[in-house]
Amino acid sequence: MDFKEVSTVFKDDLTEVEKSLRDNYFSDIPLVPGIGDYIMNGGGKRVRPLLLLICTRLCGNEIDAKVIRHATAIEYVHAASLLHDDVVDETTVRRGRPTVNTKWGSDASILVGDFLIARALLLLSNDVDETVFRSFAEGAKTLVEGGLLEFTHAREINVTEEHCLDVAFRKTASVMALACQLGAQLSQADPAVGQSLYEFGRDFGIAFQLVDDAMDYEGTPEQLGKSPGTDFSEGHVTLPLLHLYKQSDSSLKREIEDFLQNERLTQKEFDYILERMREVKAVDYTLEIAREHMKRAKDKLNGMTFTNQDYLPALQSTANHIVDRFQPAGLIPSGR
Ligand code: IPE
Ligand code: IPE
Ligand code: MG
Ligand code: MG
Repeated sequence: MDFKEVSTVFKDDLTEVEKSLRDNYFSDIPLVPGIGDYIMNGGGKRVRPLLLLICTRLCGNEIDAKVIRHATAIEYVHAASLLHDDVVDETTVRRGRPTVNTKWGSDASILVGDFLIARALLLLSNDVDETVFRSFAEGAKTLVEGGLLEFTHAREINVTEEHCLDVAFRKTASVMALACQLGAQLSQADPAVGQSLYEFGRDFGIAFQLVDDAMDYEGTPEQLGKSPGTDFSEGHVTLPLLHLYKQSDSSLKREIEDFLQNERLTQKEFDYILERMREVKAVDYTLEIAREHMKRAKDKLNGMTFTNQDYLPALQSTANHIVDRFQPAGLIPSGR
């Protein structure tokens, strides 16, 4: 099954999610629906709702109103995290358009993010399932810790690869793991199934973030929805930069350290770093680690029997699509 087929199979379910995403951010404060329209119509990939839908069907459940509410809540928390992230990072472009903080200001971006989190909680209150609620809260807490961890180590080059992977887990994979786990929990699946899907989502999410980090150096503006180089200019030490640093001689190490303290980096410095990265294949290395995590994610599924195995190819295909969506020029794809 290729990813196009996944989109076709889940078209109706995703349409339900889209409808619910649009129906639930109403407020009599006009700024909320105004910004809500802007972000919900802004072309997000809806990866987290899709994971939840696939895992729900895999566990033999139908996509009912309760599942749609949870898919909506998870996308709202994701959207809120982006609204907040763009303020923290002072990002000006996302999904090919000005960010909310650029258009309406940081205060509006923060407050509408808060509104979406509150709205997600209200959605969950329709069902109040203790297990589901605990998983959801745990996922949201870990996501926030991811942002905090990244923020507290901003512009620090003396971090480890494990640290970068921990940030990727917390800020991104935690919510993807939650989406997969909820698919099982909403279907009253055996807890062992929920645990396996959680672990699948965790490695899937780490791979997803590493691909995003790789694209931030070698991606095109079309792939990224913004110019490449934002992590570099914002002083984020992700795997490509850490790998380059580790391979560098003392003079390049010093230059990288200086760049990280410089808040006014230009295209010239970015191009210079990109050239150095190509010499040591830092982006290729990052993609290799991403592939390893995605392989681990898919291996998790192999030993499991799900109530409706027919949906397994959809999950595997989504995993392949995430790592294959980006192939920088000159990189030889490795086997899966
Ligand atoms: C963006 O997430 C933040 C990262 C985890 C890299 P997505 O890439 O899922 O964002 P949208 O919703 O599709 O824009
Ligand atoms: C993901 O990290 C941020 C969140 C999960 C909130 P990034 O900072 O890499 O996301 P982008 O690149 O801005 O989308
Ligand atoms: Mg960001
Ligand atoms: Mg990024």
